[in-house]
Amino acid sequence: MSNMADQRNPPTDAVRSHRVIVIRGDGIGPELMDAALLVLEAVGEQHDDFVLDYVEHEAGAALFRTTGVSLRPETMEAIKEADALFKAPVGLPEVRHADGTEAGLLGGLRVGLDTYANVRPVRLMPGVDAPIKAAPGSIDYVIVRENTEGLYLSRGKGVGTTEVMTDTMLISRKGTQRIARFAFELARSRNGAPSDGRRRVTCVDKANVLSSLAFFRQIFDEVGVDYPDIEQEHLYADAAAQELVQRPGHYDVLVMENLLGDILSDLGGATVGGIGLCCSANVGDDHAYFEPIHGSAPGLAGLDQANPISQILTAALMLDHLGETSAADSIRRAVDRVLDRAIVVLDASGRPIGGTRAAARAVADAIRLA
Ligand code: IPM
Ligand code: MN
Repeated sequence: MSNMADQRNPPTDAVRSHRVIVIRGDGIGPELMDAALLVLEAVGEQHDDFVLDYVEHEAGAALFRTTGVSLRPETMEAIKEADALFKAPVGLPEVRHADGTEAGLLGGLRVGLDTYANVRPVRLMPGVDAPIKAAPGSIDYVIVRENTEGLYLSRGKGVGTTEVMTDTMLISRKGTQRIARFAFELARSRNGAPSDGRRRVTCVDKANVLSSLAFFRQIFDEVGVDYPDIEQEHLYADAAAQELVQRPGHYDVLVMENLLGDILSDLGGATVGGIGLCCSANVGDDHAYFEPIHGSAPGLAGLDQANPISQILTAALMLDHLGETSAADSIRRAVDRVLDRAIVVLDASGRPIGGTRAAARAVADAIRLA
């Protein structure tokens, strides 16, 4: 799975090739990307039936600072033609628009690629000293965050005066139908909630307060009629913040509006040891891209201290999407193994003792030894 043919196992006609655009990002982004590419190289040595064909593009805050754009049109075109975009975190706190919002983020990707489903797994891995004391695997749910509308559709479009500002929440029938359907299909592909093995989709909203989210719930229920095999329930978002701390094992797939998903996925990440362990997929009908859920942590940049596991598990999500599930599983198994055997140990702030590079090498070695 590299661009170079393995001498012993030369690729045959049957070798699948996947074109992957790589964005190395800002802050800790480049070192996380190096770590993940090192792990993918080890995966490639074990799998000679596919290759990843990488094409690197520059994007993010550093690009914005020098050119005034964070994403070039030709990069967007390349992403649309590729099989996937693999990106590291972007953004720098000092690179901002006049209204105070960050200029280096690639928020336009989600709407531009119509990747309406933001898939955020929350799984308690072995060996992690998480604030919630529970057995590995006893927390294993996926937040499906609607990614193209909700309150964040207002991104860059907030209106007001010097005295008042408003952003608008937009929930559409079509947008909610497709995200609900995505959540139900995802639940069908999984093994159910850890606590009782039942396949379940939980609709998280504030239907008690906001008409827009009452509408979201109504559409969820309508779509749910097509999925009688999946247990269906509703949960208010504030109660969800409590539930995901007190009773996380009950949850399997949770579907929600954009802002709620942004917030609750960080909360979920914290419960299983921190967002430095959390990966995500942005999936649409035609395009997909893959990134950690956290930011670019510029204060840690270049120090070889950041946790690369989020980016490494993001690579696994990408391989799943490309249909290379056995390669993806080998990454997840290797990550579990190095954590379980304390080959990689995280300190109190979630950073790998021994550094970013050493952690990545440990995961790569675990893949080779598997
Ligand atoms: C995330 C991030 C982004 C978001 C930021 C960086 C724009 O927090 O992916 O969760 O708000 O969606
Ligand atoms: Mn976020």
